[in-house]
Amino acid sequence: MNTPRLIQIARADADATRADLVAGLGAPHAALSPKYLYDALGSRLFAAITALPEYYPTRTEAAIFRAHLDEIATAVGPTGTLVDLGAGNCEKAARLFDALAVRRYVAIDISASYLKESLDRLQYEHPDMEMLGVGLDFSQHLALPAEIGPGPRTLFYPGSSIGNFTPDEALAFLRQVHTACAGGALLIGVDLVKSASVLEPAYDDALGVTAAFNRNLLLHLNQLIGSDFAIADWRHVAFFNTGESRIEMHLEALRDATVRWPGGERRFAAGERIHTENSYKWRTDDFAALLSEAGFRAPRLWRDAQAWFAVFAAEA
Ligand code: AVI
Repeated sequence: MNTPRLIQIARADADATRADLVAGLGAPHAALSPKYLYDALGSRLFAAITALPEYYPTRTEAAIFRAHLDEIATAVGPTGTLVDLGAGNCEKAARLFDALAVRRYVAIDISASYLKESLDRLQYEHPDMEMLGVGLDFSQHLALPAEIGPGPRTLFYPGSSIGNFTPDEALAFLRQVHTACAGGALLIGVDLVKSASVLEPAYDDALGVTAAFNRNLLLHLNQLIGSDFAIADWRHVAFFNTGESRIEMHLEALRDATVRWPGGERRFAAGERIHTENSYKWRTDDFAALLSEAGFRAPRLWRDAQAWFAVFAAEA
């Protein structure tokens, strides 16, 4: 039986993280990167979101894979190496192993140690597969380490995480993905434009899990920069911005509040917001055009019956 290898690529140091956060808090319209939503508790809250009745993307994407797995596998071809971007618990990729004839699995997530348990379990189930866990923050720049080995490879980017980039950022990111899978393929999940009556509850659920996920960002911030955000002063706001084709998440001050941290402070007036996440929703034609612009060829797509979500496969 093989043993999973784990490597951690250097993460942003504490000073750079602090500078990024303080700049975001100090901006006229305060805004923070959604990556700060994912501390240990935030990752658990996100996992809970994927089980909510209102949050359709995860189960809809899984249903598309179930219904069309053979066709998707034919489109992608035998894969050899499968590189999973934002692997988390590696469950989504594991469902593809047989159909794609995967021999080498590379799981990438922000922390290699977070991948260990999942890879150990998967290795037990697939003793002959080579498995590598890479701790890498690819949100700014995707450069695969040499340990990944030679291509061609299939890059797998499910869950519509591409929606958390602006269209310009998505194009820049997909160009890097194209370089990383040259001669191979991309398999990517994309959430589609639909009625606000479906979109908004998915990001503002009745149980309040998404609200907790968003408000937990402030606890994370308190830890990262030593600020004194009082969670009770802030409420979760989520709405579909039709013009920008995106769900926006914000934290809104319920009352005037001055937040202090070592070396700085910011006064927020009641009603003032901190923009914490965008989740872009795409039209299939626009996303196919984006893939072509990034250098991909022959995009194919599969959707659910309601056309809420799409899985695209494209040649690199
Ligand atoms: C990770 N990402 C694709 C999720 C989304 O739908 O944009 C994050 C999320 N934010 C609130 N709910 C889920």
